[in-house]
Amino acid sequence: MCNAVEKTLKDEFGYTLASAQVVILDPCTGTGNFIVNLIQRIPGRALEDAYRERLFANEVMLLPYYIASLNIEHAYYERMQQYEAFPGLCFVDTLDMSDPRQGNLFVPENTKRVGRQKKAAITVIIGNPPYNVGQKSENDNNQNRKYPVVDERVRDTYAKASKATNKNALGDMYVKFFRWASDRLGDRDGIVCLVSNNSFVDQIAFDGMRQHLSMDFQLIEHIDLHGNVRRNPKLSGTTHNVFGIQVGVGITLAVKKTGATQRLRYHRVPETWRKSEKLNFLTEGRIEWQSLVPDPGHAWIQLGNAAEYDGLLSVNDIFELRSLGLTTARDAVVYDFGQEVLSSRIKLFIETIMLKSTRDAIIRTRCFPTQSNGAVALKSALIAANMLSFVNLKSGKRRIGRM
Ligand SMILES: C[S@@+](CC[C@H](N)C(=O)[O-])C[C@H]1O[C@@H](n2cnc3c(N)ncnc32)[C@H](O)[C@@H]1O
Repeated sequence: MCNAVEKTLKDEFGYTLASAQVVILDPCTGTGNFIVNLIQRIPGRALEDAYRERLFANEVMLLPYYIASLNIEHAYYERMQQYEAFPGLCFVDTLDMSDPRQGNLFVPENTKRVGRQKKAAITVIIGNPPYNVGQKSENDNNQNRKYPVVDERVRDTYAKASKATNKNALGDMYVKFFRWASDRLGDRDGIVCLVSNNSFVDQIAFDGMRQHLSMDFQLIEHIDLHGNVRRNPKLSGTTHNVFGIQVGVGITLAVKKTGATQRLRYHRVPETWRKSEKLNFLTEGRIEWQSLVPDPGHAWIQLGNAAEYDGLLSVNDIFELRSLGLTTARDAVVYDFGQEVLSSRIKLFIETIMLKSTRDAIIRTRCFPTQSNGAVALKSALIAANMLSFVNLKSGKRRIGRM
């Protein structure tokens, strides 16, 4: 990704990493790999200035923040043979930074750093944002965080422009990061390069996001690295996904270049490639781009029978009353062909949830023995556990659960 950014800076703007106009931010830096890689690439004569003035990184968790600090400062030391604290590293929630009410942060030095970053004319944003759908562990617990300013921007743009009925997927963290990054460039030309969940490329709820990305950026490239285990159960997250996770991953490089002709390019690697093949491909960097032309509904990848589908009558035109129907969010527990099997599984589910020391793993093994990988969102059930009860409608017998 650093290589692609460096090349794009040169090809599209005639800049190098040494250029004063190139001000870079990794908004979710983790252990700081992107900044370390950039430090290794910046020409020696410009490194000191870039390190002090033009490189920024944010991290919201304390442990990776400290590791990033060690990694980045060590990379600088290796190049310059002298230690210097990295003044661009901030302990901060990036998505809160657009909120004017953000108060003091951590220690005064950090608040000062955040203030400096807010004033910086960022022209390159590079990172690997978190995402909920498929978060590695329920403990990541970032599903319901609210960001008043960014959330409203997502609603006013991506959601408003969408024709989809169900827009829940727009609540994903990586979507907020795309919105935030597009806004952070402001009126400046520049580059946003993110590796993320790539559901936005072809899923219905993201039509408005695709439309706005095409409005906010003139050149967009996406490498689809696949690895969506839910879409293709023959794949394994560990073997085929570059991050060992369950959702499809892709690298997007979006360039804002005033006056440039719109260009959308896409490349998908073979779906069955293993992680190592995908990583080798990225290292080699020989990409055969396919040019895409969005259709009027902002689909980037047209389905083979899209024209025929568009000519069909919509169910919305046939039925006056419509709804999603029953949404259990736990179909594997509450549906079965046999009443006995179903009753005993529901009882087991309630009992297991009532265990004081209940952990997701125990519930998964007991209630879903055949789905060891199934991510089960149990938090709401646990919270509601006081109310859980088993009622056998046929016999009228009722068993109340307890905490
Ligand atoms: C997928 S990791 C990034 C990995 C990174 N490229 C590296 O070199 O390690 C995402 C990181 O973003 C951080 N993060 C998540 N939400 C954030 C937010 N709102 N603001 C800042 N950092 C965030 C997480 O704590 C995590 O360390």
